[in-house]
Amino acid sequence: MKHAAISAPRASKLTRYASASNASVDSTTESKKCFKGHGMLAPFTSGWQTTELGPLVIDKSEGCYVYDIDGNKYLDSLAGLWCNALGGNEARLVAAATAQLNKLPFYHSFWNKTTKVSLDLAEELLQTFTARKMAKAFFVNSGSEANDTQVKLVWYYNNALGRPKKKKIIARMNSYHGTTLVAASLSGLPPMHQQFDLPAPFTLHTDCPHYWRYHLPGETEEEFATRLADNLENLILKEGPETIAAFIAEPVIGAGGVIPPPATYFDKVQAVLKKYDILFIVDEVICAFGRLGEMFGSDKYNLKPDMVSMAKALSSAYIPIGAILISPEISEVIYSESNKLGSFFHGFTYSGHPVSCAVALESLKLYKERNIVERVRNLAPKFQDGMRIFADSPIIGEIRGTGLILAVEFTDNKSPNNPFPSEWGIGTYFATQCQKYGMIVREAVDNVMLCPPLIISEEEIDELISTFGKALKDTEDRVKELKAQKQSN
Ligand SMILES: Cc1ncc(COP(=O)(O)O)c(C=O)c1O
Repeated sequence: MKHAAISAPRASKLTRYASASNASVDSTTESKKCFKGHGMLAPFTSGWQTTELGPLVIDKSEGCYVYDIDGNKYLDSLAGLWCNALGGNEARLVAAATAQLNKLPFYHSFWNKTTKVSLDLAEELLQTFTARKMAKAFFVNSGSEANDTQVKLVWYYNNALGRPKKKKIIARMNSYHGTTLVAASLSGLPPMHQQFDLPAPFTLHTDCPHYWRYHLPGETEEEFATRLADNLENLILKEGPETIAAFIAEPVIGAGGVIPPPATYFDKVQAVLKKYDILFIVDEVICAFGRLGEMFGSDKYNLKPDMVSMAKALSSAYIPIGAILISPEISEVIYSESNKLGSFFHGFTYSGHPVSCAVALESLKLYKERNIVERVRNLAPKFQDGMRIFADSPIIGEIRGTGLILAVEFTDNKSPNNPFPSEWGIGTYFATQCQKYGMIVREAVDNVMLCPPLIISEEEIDELISTFGKALKDTEDRVKELKAQKQSN
């Protein structure tokens, strides 16, 4: 496939694509119904994309596919936003929501009142999470609210224990924990801090555990993990262990680039946390409910968290809901302190919303009935090995992932130190080609991330890989052209 030489206006647009943290592909301009300059302040979208491109407007979903307002069909290789695990038209979830709406559309859970369905969901979650015993579930509406709540609970816990200085939270570079004030502070992505007066001073960031990008020459994965655990310990000692309250981590870093942990990493990190009496918050917002081929990321990596955050696939994204689980030790302290203070003064109007809980309960039932964990385990080799046929591409630096989550990073010379010039917008070009061929991918700079619905079929995995291959071929040609132009200039 031929592409016209990059023109000046096109080049400047690509520069803008590349600089946008979540660039939108330019085929949106081809929509017959263009919503350029619409009235919504769009999340993770820059102003020029709204005014000059207009959005891709999605109208309908069916299984692993979505359709835009012009009727074009796309394989949704990101399951919405890493969340639509059971696909786009699961009748059982619609029926669960409808039945609950007809019976009791809302009641709250404040002041010792609640609904049966929220109690059932709490019980079900406590039984489903088996990596260690958890005592209580608290309901929120999103992953961000989950992580903000975690920090409040950690502070409440340490205040109750008479440790008012033990308040700092350590997160990791390149992690993603959400966008509310605290969750954005924890996230290790600098663009999320710029202009928002973040990160908050009680948040600290330690190394990103990305072996390919950050290992030293000759360093094995195990040695890399040891160095990172040592760095974590040094940070704790420098700040003073009496000031460090908790460490938060995703089992596999998701939105920050799909980064599975290096071998032995979590064993070593957990030993450090234990040594200094630091709580471990595991952010399972993407990894929970089968994504990695285990019910939770904690099962896969032998994590023993004190607190767990979840959201997204909890309801297969049909309705907003998140939850946190807390250990018996933390729940005991919270109970006794709330007895002293008269109440536990935290909660949201929609904590345990009955319709959300009904949909979440039905989702959990479906994951079990359909053996989703086993299904992911069986499909993972086809997906992971299938995608690795592209490993020899001269423009791919690394392909990484596990279960049904994967990232492909474009670099020159197979090296993490040779990114393509940002003004070439290689990742965005690739995503544009995918969209043209009928597939939506997530691209951030030159990193392409895939996280398809867990119900994806073998044929749909074949389609995903074949579409990826077509877009990759176009992108390789594009890189050749751009290199030739650069040489002739
Ligand atoms: C690991 C993780 N934690 C938290 C969040 C924030 O979730 P939400 O967007 O529902 O607030 C996300 C969102 O992508 C996430 O991936």
